Amino acid sequence: MNNNALYKISYGLFILTAKNQEKINGCVINTAIQVTSSPVRIAVTVNKDNFTHDLIKNSGIFNVSVLDVSAAFDLFKRFGFRSGKTADKFSGFEDFGYSSNGLPYLTKYACAFISGRVVDSVDLGTHTMFVADVSDGEILSDKEPMTYAYYHSSVKTQASSDSAPKKGWKCKICGYVYEHEEMADDFVCPICKHGASDFEKL
Ligand SMILES: Cc1cc2nc3c(=O)[nH]c(=O)nc-3n(C[C@H](O)[C@H](O)[C@H](O)COP(=O)(O)O)c2cc1C
Repeated sequence: MNNNALYKISYGLFILTAKNQEKINGCVINTAIQVTSSPVRIAVTVNKDNFTHDLIKNSGIFNVSVLDVSAAFDLFKRFGFRSGKTADKFSGFEDFGYSSNGLPYLTKYACAFISGRVVDSVDLGTHTMFVADVSDGEILSDKEPMTYAYYHSSVKTQASSDSAPKKGWKCKICGYVYEHEEMADDFVCPICKHGASDFEKL
């Protein structure tokens, strides 16, 4: 099996937001899709270790901000490389507003947002797929949505070329380097939670 075959599937990139009584939070996902058109339903797939996972599980609602090509690596670092369990990801960030469900969505770096109300969830082991009715949604700009391929070719590389060369295994998703000779098959990236198959030897 050539794992690179999986990279030929096209995805978009999104900030998935949710909240509890104390905190608003969001994380980067590439797994938002429309699953049915009548009724209009979308699905997002979220790692059970993510803070956003529990926020959605407990509240039953979320927003998906559709990132456009103006989103820079710093935005991915803010929302994708640390957890709301320990960080306040919206601290010092002003480019967001609130939609009719009371949840934040990005007003910059996003060309649209979609609000979801969970109607079903599928336990996928490491992840939960939340299936949701679409309750709201707006176009925010006419900029091109960002694809996962664009993130790999133009966003992530700018940042990784800044850092000094290291030896070990490099995560192809976020650029984290595991500085060891061997990597266990069940290794999970501590930054973006992708598995060993998404690492390349340096
Ligand atoms: C490009 C990229 C794509 C990602 N896609 C997903 C995804 O589809 N599902 C997911 O659960 N996490 C995904 N992640 C990882 C989360 O964004 C990351 O674990 C985040 O720190 C979780 O934050 P939280 O604990 O505040 O929810 C992705 C990260 C990156 C950088």
